[in-house]
Amino acid sequence: MANVTVIGAQWGDEGKGKLVDWLSNRADVVVRFQGGHNAGHTLVVGNQTYKLSLLPSGVVQGKLSIIGNGVVVDPWHLLKEIATLGDQGVMITPDLLVVADNACLILPIHRDLDQAREAAALNKIGTTGRGIGPAYEDKVGRRAIRVADLADREALEAKIDRLLAHHAPLRRGLGLPDVDPAALLAELEAIAPRVLVYARPAWLLLDELVKTGKRVLFEGAQGALLDVDHGTYPYVTSSNTVAGQAAAGSGLGPKGPGYVLGIVKAYTTRVGEGPFPTELFDAVGEHLGTVGREVGTVTGRSRRCGWFDAALVRQSVALNGIAGIALTKLDVLDGLPTLKICTGYRLGDQEISYLPSGLKAQSQLVPVYEEMEGWSGTTQGARSWKDLPASAVKYVRRIEELIGAPVALLSTSPQRDDTILMRDPFHD
Ligand code: IMP
Repeated sequence: MANVTVIGAQWGDEGKGKLVDWLSNRADVVVRFQGGHNAGHTLVVGNQTYKLSLLPSGVVQGKLSIIGNGVVVDPWHLLKEIATLGDQGVMITPDLLVVADNACLILPIHRDLDQAREAAALNKIGTTGRGIGPAYEDKVGRRAIRVADLADREALEAKIDRLLAHHAPLRRGLGLPDVDPAALLAELEAIAPRVLVYARPAWLLLDELVKTGKRVLFEGAQGALLDVDHGTYPYVTSSNTVAGQAAAGSGLGPKGPGYVLGIVKAYTTRVGEGPFPTELFDAVGEHLGTVGREVGTVTGRSRRCGWFDAALVRQSVALNGIAGIALTKLDVLDGLPTLKICTGYRLGDQEISYLPSGLKAQSQLVPVYEEMEGWSGTTQGARSWKDLPASAVKYVRRIEELIGAPVALLSTSPQRDDTILMRDPFHD
């Protein structure tokens, strides 16, 4: 298969960055297709750690990287991330990075609104506070400023007026000061040339690349359970995070996504508010959080931790058309005497095999667990299947059975090379 789409199959933070970095070796171009700088992708290469939020993880390997139209772009953050990577020796040039000229911008007014709403606890979601939701609201409200507008002062002025007319009453309602349109225009004009050097019709470039046989790696952000349609709404992000979005968020069309690789953590975590049936509040939960270093890359918040939920991932396999999974952080389970896997739920006196859509039903689910023996040896840094303890192999095989998808890759530490390849997504 020529293209591969990597998506998070749970609530994000499954370790997509490492896998995308590893797979980008086999690809010609890496594309982000949704979300914004709410993502936190950590790549560990030798003794260097790279933290990316907006740039596709392929940039670290020097691969052509595209920020697609489905992404919301904070231009100031974009320039900051480019500068930080430059300080680490990764030079980003317009030959390496392309930003879709029809992507919508995140402005300071979006961040203000996001943070003020969270602070006022109006439907507190536990967002990253980076303005993602309000920026998507303006996109679908047809009043957003897009990258291409930065080249057109007249369009920019008119759009700022339109945008501020919408935001002014919202800001007043939340006790935020009015925004001076001239100041916003000046701020945007000041950075416009530095952003526009990367701007191109990304769909056209992708079309040309694919026609000449180039291999595309799509890099999802967040996870399927945070999808605005399919996730635990309203405790979700504001974009479609499922694999199908790779087509619309890049402009490559429905054949684009290719092999869908779901990234799956060997247990479950989530940040922010919302239902989490297998959440643990005991010593095991603490073990997962501490050993797994479950702290958000973007916000520094502790992640909530719980047992592996096979029902959720089974749902994710269906929603995303997952062909195979990459299982990450198995080593975090090293040393736990007993492991539990959730196979479905009980809702009142009903048995249910999937996450229902209603919020009340979601919060009342009681997980049904299957117990398995843990292992005393270590799986950390294993580079071959036969290095794994027998009980660890059994755990992985049971996961495959329950979710209905095979393990294509196994990641055994944050290091790039601690990865066991079972089947190559680019050739499957
Ligand atoms: P937003 O995307 O900042 O609007 O946040 C909405 C929800 O998505 C919150 O629960 C966030 O914690 C969650 N979220 C956003 N980005 C990520 C991510 O990269 N990993 C995990 N959770 C995320």
